[in-house]
Amino acid sequence: MIQIKTIEEYHLAYQKSKNNPNEFWEEIASEFVWKSKWTQVMEYDFLKGHSVWFKDAQLNITENCIDRHLAHNGTKIAIVWEPNNPSESGISLTYNELSLKVNQAAAILKKNGVKKGDRVCLYMGMIPELSIAMLACARIGAIHSVIFGGFSAQSIADRLIDAQASVIITCDGAFRGDKVIPLKSVVDDALNTYQLIDKVIVVARTHTPVSMIKGRDIWWKDELQELEKEGILFVEPEPMDAEDPLFILYTSGSTGKPKGVVHSSAGYMVWAHYTFVNVFQYESQYKHFCTADIGWITGHSYIVYGPLSAGATTVIFEGVPTWPDAGRLWDVVDKYQIDILYTAPTAIRTLMGAGLSFFSDKNLNSLKILGSVGEPINEEAWHWLDTHIGKGRCPIVDTWWQTETGGILISNLAGVTPSKPSFATIPLPGIFPILLDENGHEITEANITGHLYIKQSWPGIIRTTYNNHHRCVEAYFSTHKGYYFTGDGSFRDENGNYRITGRVDDVLNVSGHRIGTAELENAINSHAGVIESAVVAFPHAIKGQGIYAFVVVEDSQFTQEHSPLDIVATVSRLIGPIAKPDKIQIVKALPKTRSGKIMRRILRKIAEGELDSIGDTSTLLDPKVVEEIIQNVV
Ligand code: PRX
Repeated sequence: MIQIKTIEEYHLAYQKSKNNPNEFWEEIASEFVWKSKWTQVMEYDFLKGHSVWFKDAQLNITENCIDRHLAHNGTKIAIVWEPNNPSESGISLTYNELSLKVNQAAAILKKNGVKKGDRVCLYMGMIPELSIAMLACARIGAIHSVIFGGFSAQSIADRLIDAQASVIITCDGAFRGDKVIPLKSVVDDALNTYQLIDKVIVVARTHTPVSMIKGRDIWWKDELQELEKEGILFVEPEPMDAEDPLFILYTSGSTGKPKGVVHSSAGYMVWAHYTFVNVFQYESQYKHFCTADIGWITGHSYIVYGPLSAGATTVIFEGVPTWPDAGRLWDVVDKYQIDILYTAPTAIRTLMGAGLSFFSDKNLNSLKILGSVGEPINEEAWHWLDTHIGKGRCPIVDTWWQTETGGILISNLAGVTPSKPSFATIPLPGIFPILLDENGHEITEANITGHLYIKQSWPGIIRTTYNNHHRCVEAYFSTHKGYYFTGDGSFRDENGNYRITGRVDDVLNVSGHRIGTAELENAINSHAGVIESAVVAFPHAIKGQGIYAFVVVEDSQFTQEHSPLDIVATVSRLIGPIAKPDKIQIVKALPKTRSGKIMRRILRKIAEGELDSIGDTSTLLDPKVVEEIIQNVV
């Protein structure tokens, strides 16, 4: 485990990653188990959106996340699973047990015809079988595509069609607080649209009644029983080329359709591992608790692949921070004596609002490192976390990164490099950020905000968007040629600390979840009677950003039977409950320029309540439209 332990070592590592990247990465990569070594450390061409790391090497990530730990750490706990309901017992799996389960799951997939390169979709709750299924796919070289449980049948169908998946693994249902989400039934609806699925493998969790279609739907436990009869305990790990895809994860961008971000086998592994051990200053006895859902990139990199590659004990929590009460997260910390807690500002703000009584009787003394991810953390939340949870003795890492980056790019290293509230601070070794102005000129001055780009490739960078490389080049490598465009704005202080100010494209960040405005508008416009719409963000005390939709409807619509709530229902059906607008304002018209372009800037100001800074409206086709909207703000 190559770890930076002092600020001097950080500067040396950063310089080396700049001046001698081949040697720098070779040393880090040499710690892993390879089936054959690389012929070249890296090659990249940002003009073509092309990156290759550890060229020609072969490996299997599961040998690095599981097999290599068995000799010395086989009896160490790999996964701690804490169920939704505190009265139900949790489960702990040692590395030996995880190995057996992953091998068995790999055998189930093989028996059901899954081969290297096939796409397997996982639509499951937060149970150990989800990470077991991911690792089982990786073991046999199948590409997993995890879909978050808050997405609708239509969203699943869109992803299945794009990935041309052949197998789905799901659950009968998922527990989330006091709700049961009928996952299998949502999958069934998706399969009315996409019919090329060979098998649906169902894990029993909630015992919700489910329909099981003969020849297509099978129970995970029945498959396991058969394997046990046959005594299959081991599946040979498939040799994977370094650049073979490990997984696809769909994410929203500024266009209407989510993109299938593809990550590689070797580079992603090296990056998830290196960032995990350095940012969190992981030590072998630490228990790591990341509260994200595995359906997002944070769960992939910092519940599953990063921690397991380091031989860590990682917690999977099925529940939500506020159920049965706002002390639930602190229960988990206390129960397992957690060392590293990695969570999101939205969760911190929610728990902050609940008051101090929820953790006054909890022992949080085991905590050593706190982390934040997904959205800017406001100073108030940062200080609350520092004072009340970290008791002033736990470094807080504010980690900035994206689905496309595979792992953390900008963050302080816990207790090694300084933190600064609301700043992600400095780049990791191998990351060379640059701020450009709107015209693509580099901003070299301090204390100025610009658009954040990255100059050079790093091991965990997005390799392509599934089945459509052109889209990848367009979205990430075309805004200013030769740079990776993050879609974020950033301020940089005189010490080179970055403070991410939020998206500069048409992407919202609601509770740390990315949602494209174009995707939302498409869904709203599909609702009967809607003529057109424009969606913008407004500041939300808990979620960071809320969704504000301005909607033009046909006159005859929206009587009592047709209310804005119906629009919410349509969005929920087409995208999923996570994308429900918080506010819908029915308007007569949208503010447009004479050429027909919607002036979102004006709508944003209205949604933010900043009526004084709306600016000049004289270029609008009809300036009166703005007055009408302001008068009826919701
Ligand atoms: O806007 C940034 C914000 O989340 C976006 C990436 O979203 P996603 O791909 O869903 O991944 C989230 C988890 C890595 C970024 O473009 N973001 C992420 N982390 C931070 C952040 N904004 C400010 N500070 C952060 N630490």
